[in-house]
Amino acid sequence: MVPTHTIRVFGDPVLKRPAAPVTEIDGALATLVDAMYDTMYDAPGVGLAAPQVGVQKRFFVYDVGDGPAVLINPEVVEATGEWTYEEGCLSLPGLAFEVVRPKVVTVRGLDLDGNDVVVQGDELLGRVFLHEIDHLDGVLMLDRLERDERKRAMRLLREQGMGAPTPAGRRHAL
Ligand code: NI
Repeated sequence: MVPTHTIRVFGDPVLKRPAAPVTEIDGALATLVDAMYDTMYDAPGVGLAAPQVGVQKRFFVYDVGDGPAVLINPEVVEATGEWTYEEGCLSLPGLAFEVVRPKVVTVRGLDLDGNDVVVQGDELLGRVFLHEIDHLDGVLMLDRLERDERKRAMRLLREQGMGAPTPAGRRHAL
């Protein structure tokens, strides 16, 4: 059993900083990835980026129902179409907002063996890819909202305070 990490929430400066590329894929990274799977399932969420556990490296883990996977140094190859979805984020506990993003997203990166991988995600999986890559760039879901929605989100964040319990029945958190 690998100890889980505390998920950093809005207000933590680590969430606003761009992460650095992974230069070494080793046992330490594999151990960290295992811990991040547990942290993601515990939350529960369908995606978790390294900066969300305080690690400023470019990788994220995800599982939209097909089993756990990791993508290291990910890049968007292609993003097409448009899909609106009520998106949540583990670093913005209790908040969910409709965000418009591309529908079909192809990403490339490395797996834990250092092999090149290309993965295409439709709807929720595509959204996870874009949301987590945003985290690696220091961008939060809040930054993707329209001005009025963003103001409403900031007000909700102020009112609930940090570490508020997450309401049941919310949508997937990424
Ligand atoms: Ni998130």
